[in-house]
Amino acid sequence: MDLPTLLARYDDRRLPRYTSYPTAPRFDSRVGSSVMRQWLGALAPQTRLSLYVHVPFCERMCWFCACNTSVVHSVAALERYAAAVQCEIERVAAAIGQRLPVAHVHWGGGTPTVLPAPLMRTIDAMMRRHFSFDDDTEIAIEIDPRTLPATAVADFAALGIGRASLGVQDFAPAVQDAIGRHQSLEQTRAAAESARRAGAASVNLDLVYGLPHQTVASLEATIADVLTIDPDRIALFGYAHVPWMQRRQQLLAEQALPDAEARFAQQAHAANLLVAAGYRRIGLDHFARPHDRMAKASGTGTLSRNFQGYTVDHGAVLLGFGASAIGSLPQGYAQNATRAADYMAQIEAGELAAVRGIALNPEDRLRRQIIERIMCDGAADVAALATAAGIDVATFDAALSRLDRLAQDGLVLCDGWRLTVPDSARPFLRHVAACFDAYLDPGTAPSARQPMVTKQRLSG
Ligand SMILES: C[S@@+](CC[C@H](N)C(=O)[O-])C[C@H]1O[C@@H](n2cnc3c(N)ncnc32)[C@H](O)[C@@H]1O
Repeated sequence: MDLPTLLARYDDRRLPRYTSYPTAPRFDSRVGSSVMRQWLGALAPQTRLSLYVHVPFCERMCWFCACNTSVVHSVAALERYAAAVQCEIERVAAAIGQRLPVAHVHWGGGTPTVLPAPLMRTIDAMMRRHFSFDDDTEIAIEIDPRTLPATAVADFAALGIGRASLGVQDFAPAVQDAIGRHQSLEQTRAAAESARRAGAASVNLDLVYGLPHQTVASLEATIADVLTIDPDRIALFGYAHVPWMQRRQQLLAEQALPDAEARFAQQAHAANLLVAAGYRRIGLDHFARPHDRMAKASGTGTLSRNFQGYTVDHGAVLLGFGASAIGSLPQGYAQNATRAADYMAQIEAGELAAVRGIALNPEDRLRRQIIERIMCDGAADVAALATAAGIDVATFDAALSRLDRLAQDGLVLCDGWRLTVPDSARPFLRHVAACFDAYLDPGTAPSARQPMVTKQRLSG
């Protein structure tokens, strides 16, 4: 089948990215503060935790950004938010009732460094007081290279930052004008160097394709530039245009957005360049140097997916702190109030901040496992996973006709229930995963009211 026909048949712009299953649009208010309290109280001794701290503030707003963030400069507002996060950490720890070990911490946003360093340190100290950190605890942070404080090296060293993620997108002036974000290669290099000087062993750069005025040539030039920084990992996200959810995206010139074919060409060319430069391709949109933990984990079945995308983090339970943060517990997912004001009000009223979520049943867990293996490894042995879960594989018979159609179009190889997505079909991973999504109406794309990104980060 020719590419235009294939792309017309398999438009992925309305499919979830499966950073969770069920996806965030399926969460509802049956999970709130009191359910969360019960879930936390039932955590097994020695459960290894991942902690996520969401800082929903930036110094300036980028028009393309789909994340839950806003511009806040008032120190008093930042102090109030940091106090709420500290209070939430204390309250969550009290509900757990034991000091559990931490495998991983992720400071995300927004731009976490908008919080003055002393406020970040008080949050860090609160986490260390209530949870157990050791030398293997990996601490990661998202950085805006344009607004890094002059004290960043000392600040990051004090927090123990081991991995830094820097937003880049594209260096072409026309693209930067169109997305309201101007950032030079030198600013980006300086930020990467600061992170490395502070002790970060892994530096990750985020590129985006599919932006207004972006071309294969602009992406190629951007990649040539970022390779001079020698990032350990590169994420290559497809631009998610969700202006009904993030009104700031209405500032983007829609007529300048590349169409599906142009997006495909950008993604394919960028991937080829990165592989030729020595990066290993991982899942849908990540690339890692062979020495990096993510490259080592890929293909071993140990890579997983969480709200930050792909991860090698092995925390069994994710606790999310801050507005819109999502926790993943054995019993299900719980998300905090999205707006910072609502989040703070909930905490100040003496509650936990969870306001929506979903409890998982055994079939949800199995579907999640199958979807995660497809998204991470491009392969899944559905029958083996079903047997291990004690669920009849016939549960998935409804997926067969959809898989069959994908197989006829060369997007998946089916050896019985053993599925493999060929490398050439990697951009269509989400279509294969979606065959196992019981909440996605097979006949229709998700409606405009079921966004493919959450407000925490790109998710769904
Ligand atoms: C949570 S943002 C934080 C980055 C940091 N504040 C900065 O300014 O670089 C992390 C990443 O999300 C990605 N992102 C945000 N909005 C996006 C969108 N609409 N489509 C695709 N990727 C997006 C970008 O790659 C961005 O670097």
